[in-house]
Formats: sequence, structure tokens, C-alpha cells
Amino acid sequence: MLRRLHPEQPESFAFTPANREWAEAQMTKFPKGRQASAIIPILWRAQEQEGWLTRAAIEHVAGMLDLAYIRALEVATFYFMFQLQPVGSVAHVQVCGTLSCMICGAEDLIAVCKDKIAPRAHELSADGRFSWEEVECLGACANAPMAQIGKDYYEDLTTEGLGQLIDAMAAGGVPVPGPQDGRYAAEPASGLTSLKDHAAGRAEHNASVQFAVDVGDTLVRIDGTEVPMSAPWQQGPGPDRPVDRPEPAVDVHPEQKDEAKPAKGKPVDETGETKQEAAVQSAAKPPSKRDAGDGADATVGEAAGDGDDAKATAGVTVGPDDERAPKTPRGEGASAAPDSTKTSTKQAAVATGGTGDQIGGAREAAPERLDAPRGGAADDLKRIDGVGPKLETVLNDMGFWHFDQIAAWGPAEIAWVDARLSFKGRIERDDWVGQAGELARG
Ligand code: FES
Repeated sequence: MLRRLHPEQPESFAFTPANREWAEAQMTKFPKGRQASAIIPILWRAQEQEGWLTRAAIEHVAGMLDLAYIRALEVATFYFMFQLQPVGSVAHVQVCGTLSCMICGAEDLIAVCKDKIAPRAHELSADGRFSWEEVECLGACANAPMAQIGKDYYEDLTTEGLGQLIDAMAAGGVPVPGPQDGRYAAEPASGLTSLKDHAAGRAEHNASVQFAVDVGDTLVRIDGTEVPMSAPWQQGPGPDRPVDRPEPAVDVHPEQKDEAKPAKGKPVDETGETKQEAAVQSAAKPPSKRDAGDGADATVGEAAGDGDDAKATAGVTVGPDDERAPKTPRGEGASAAPDSTKTSTKQAAVATGGTGDQIGGAREAAPERLDAPRGGAADDLKRIDGVGPKLETVLNDMGFWHFDQIAAWGPAEIAWVDARLSFKGRIERDDWVGQAGELARG
């Protein structure tokens, strides 16, 4: 079938805070520069949140991963796990119609769907709670015929059994997935012929079904609610589970964690150096001094008391290219550009040398930064397309409160800010500077 975007699309998409945090954690599973590999779980999460995958969601995910929209669209339209049109609010039944299932009665199951849900695939039931479609082999051929409903497989189906499942779901039930004919898994229908001893100590359900039963969310979409991150299927990089990688994280993007916020030029707390800072210090070893006067990029560890030592640990906010670059102190060999920005309290504390820096070949210069909004009234930076509430907080934390501050950024300042955001390139892609200029002019 043709997979096209639905003609009616919502204006925008945004992850809930919890889902965004989860999605950002998925990106950390991949090496720097390979974050696009997280596209399928993040698209899936967007679908779980909204029920189906909207164009705005696809573009939003593309933006997160710094992908061209068409690349994300290619993925979303290729896999039929992604629903490109609204589906039933309770369940979307995907009946396998490939060989084994077809031989074993898939057409009869489809007839049940037509009768109980809607005459045509992808059509919502009258109450909007169910929809169905025929899909290609789902890899459970030994348990044919089968259907995927929500996250789970319902196998060894009969017409009566499928009808009862739909009725149970309509009544608010969450039927136990897996084989529906009493089989434990994919053993012969007549019973085990080998490994019979092994069956004695097994769990009530096979591993897949047991997991679904334990989690208990098979049909439940996230639907904007907070997801318990402790659920087994949520485990992985997340707020309650540190990123599993051998080297300490050295990317101190302020968007990712509160403790990862730039130190903003403040002295390191003698009694409580943050975990991130500790990781950064560790990752920066062996410490080596940076060129005198190249201190504009002192994100973490700067102003620790000893200027030279502090500079040895400064500049640990690395871009994708840094990780691949030879382990030479950042700034060495880089042509330090004079910092042409005005001096503010924050800038003076951070950019002690008043010079630019270079990451991955992009010259940087610290923009003008403020400790607080002028006159106590900050501009609504969310009016800049591409800046949401979280990014606004990040910008404020960096010392940007006003449109005219952003409008004044040149390429070097953009590079400086960009190096501190999780999603590279969005400043220029969304033309923050141009937008901010227009907003500053009223
Ligand atoms: Fe239906 Fe393979 S043919 S699951």
C-alpha cells in the first residue's frame, strides 16, 4: 500500500518533558555524530505519545537528530510500525496476512475486523476507539494466525477468539497476549517433544508474555502522561540509570541535566563539585595548559582559583569532531580571535582571556551575556521559532535574556552557543538571529 502522510495534520508537536528526557537519553546510546541512529525509538516514542505519527512529530524528531526532514520521512514511511494516520484510541489491530497466517485463517480474522471495527483498513470504528489493518509477516509464523495489538502479539487466533479480544478491550480489559490456544510458546500444537524437564520450572508465561503482563501497559499509550521510568522496558540511559559507557561523559550540554549546566564562570563549590564536573575533570586528564589568553570558552572548571590549572580543565565542552580529534588540548594551534563582544559581568567571569576559541574548525567567540534580564524583564524567547520552554531556560542559564542579545550574534558567537546546545545547527537552521532581529525591532 502507499504510505502517505495524512492530509489533516496538527500544527505542531512537542514531547512531554518526560518523553523528551527519555528521547534525549536514547541519543546518548550512540557515539557522537551517530545520534541519527536513535531515530526509530524516538519516532516510536512520538507515536506512543500522540497515537500516530504526525508530520510535525517527524520534523520535530528530525530536528532533534539534526537530520534533513526527508531522511526522517523516509524512515517513517518505510516501516508499517509507524502509523501515518489516526488510529483507534484503544487499539489498532494489525492482522498478519502473509503465507502462514493466510493459510491458517487470516482472511477470517480480517472479516472479524471488518465486522467489529470498520469495513476498510485504517478506518476508525464508529466510536473512534478501534482501527485495523493487514500487515506483512510479523515473524510469529509458528503461531499463525496472529495479530499485533498495541505492543504485543496475540497468537493462535480464531475468529471467536479475536472477537472476544476486541470485546474485552472495548470493555476496558487488557487481555493476556501470546498464544490463545493454551500453547506456552511456539512448541508443537500436540505438546513438547523434547526438553520436557525444562518445562517444570518455567514461569507462568513465556518470556515475552510474562514481560507484557509484568509491565501491564500493552494497550496503554503514553498519551502525554508521565511514564514510570522504573518500568523494565524503560531501562537504559535515563534519569534513574546512568549512561552505560566506559568513559565519563564530557559533553556538558546544559539541556541534558541540571548538573550539566555550565558553571557560568562561578568558582567551583569547594564542598560540592558536581558529578558532571568530576567527570569532566577526569576526562580532561592529563591536564595541560592552554595558551595564555585563550580562555573564552571556560565552560566548566574555570575560575577554580588557579588560573592556569583552571584553564587546563576548561574548554571541555566538545563537539562531535573533538571526540575524533587527536587528544591535544583544545585551543592549541587554534587561531584565537579577538573577542569583539561587549563585556558583561558574566562574560567577564567566563571569558577571562577575552578571546575566541575553535572547535572542530568553527571559530568561536563568547557573546555578550548577562547575569539577569535588564530591568528585571526578560523577553519571551519562545517567540523565536525553534525555541521552546526548555531551550529558553537553557538560553537564560547561559545569560541570554533579550532578543537584541541574540540578534547581535555573528558566526563566531553562533558557533560558541551552538557548541553548548544538544542539537547542533538549529540556530542557523531556524534563523534565530534573523528572527530575534525582527522581534527586537518590534
Ligand atoms: Fe504471519 Fe509470519 S506469516 S507471522
